[in-house]
Formats: sequence, structure tokens, C-alpha cells
Amino acid sequence: MEEHEHEALPPAVPPVNRRDFLFRLGLALNTVAAAFVGIPVLGYVASSMFKGKAQQAWVALGNLDSFPTGETRLASYRNPFTTPWDGATADIPCWVRRKPDGGFQVFAINCAHLGCPVRWFPQSGLFMCPCHGGVYYEDGSRASGPPPRGLYQYEFRVRSGHLEVRGGETPNLSEPV
Ligand code: FES
Repeated sequence: MEEHEHEALPPAVPPVNRRDFLFRLGLALNTVAAAFVGIPVLGYVASSMFKGKAQQAWVALGNLDSFPTGETRLASYRNPFTTPWDGATADIPCWVRRKPDGGFQVFAINCAHLGCPVRWFPQSGLFMCPCHGGVYYEDGSRASGPPPRGLYQYEFRVRSGHLEVRGGETPNLSEPV
């Protein structure tokens, strides 16, 4: 008898049956699908966690003389974080109220409900929203309708005879000012 006839045979590889194969294939496809769905979601969550303060910078709104005491006027500024192809969409309107005591309030034009532009009616001393009937008093506080709060306000300052606001990312529920 020859010696090689007694050598141990390698362990037999168990046969993969059709059911196991399909199970493993399904598992692999599910993993790939989960990665496609999960990675963007994780990216979104992480970006909101690590996002810093909204992009904002001081921009001039106009000469103080252009805002008479006791009046509310429409003004606009150029978004300081614009790109050349933004065009007119980078011109951001806002309402400027010069209070009777000479102080200011600068309101975002967007309704605090769903963002429609509000209009100022000096006859009634109210801001009104054309979309769902939201109404605000002259100081921006909510008067009636669906808005959950008053108008968003910008930070402002006076420099060298000019009114400036912290413009850029517009105020919203998560970043009120
Ligand atoms: S968007 Fe102004 S009331 Fe709805």
C-alpha cells in the first residue's frame, strides 16, 4: 500500500444550498440599501450638529434720514453671502420701523407662519399677510391668524449716520436673529 493513500483528505466544504445563497444575497443587498439611505441622513444630522452660527454680516440699509420718525418703510439690502449668479434673489427686503422715540425695529418681510411676504398698512397700523390672514401689530408682535409668533427681527446698529443690519441668512424658527 502506498503511503499517500493514508493522507488525510481536506475537510469537505459544505454545499451552499439555494436557500442560504438567497438569504446571504438578500442580506448583502439590504446592507447596500441601508448605506444608501443612511449615509445622507447621518450627514444631514451631523451637519446640523456641527453647523456654526448662521452666516451673517453687517450691511448698510440706508441713511438715517431715509427713515422718518414714526414711520415704517420698506428697505432692502444685498445679501453679503451672495454668488454672482444669484441676481435679484440676493436683494433682501425688510421693514424698518422708526419708533416715536427715534429707536428702530427691523423686521424680516417673511411671515412667521409659512414665509409669505407681509405688507404694512399705515392706515390701520398693522402688518398683514396675504396668504392665510396672519396679522401683526406695528411693533411686530402677533395680532391674529395662524403665525405662531411675531415677525422675526434683525439685529441692527447705527454707524456714521447709517442704519446697518446683520444680514445674510434670514431669521427663522431655529435662528430667530
Ligand atoms: S404665511 Fe402668513 S399667515 Fe400663513
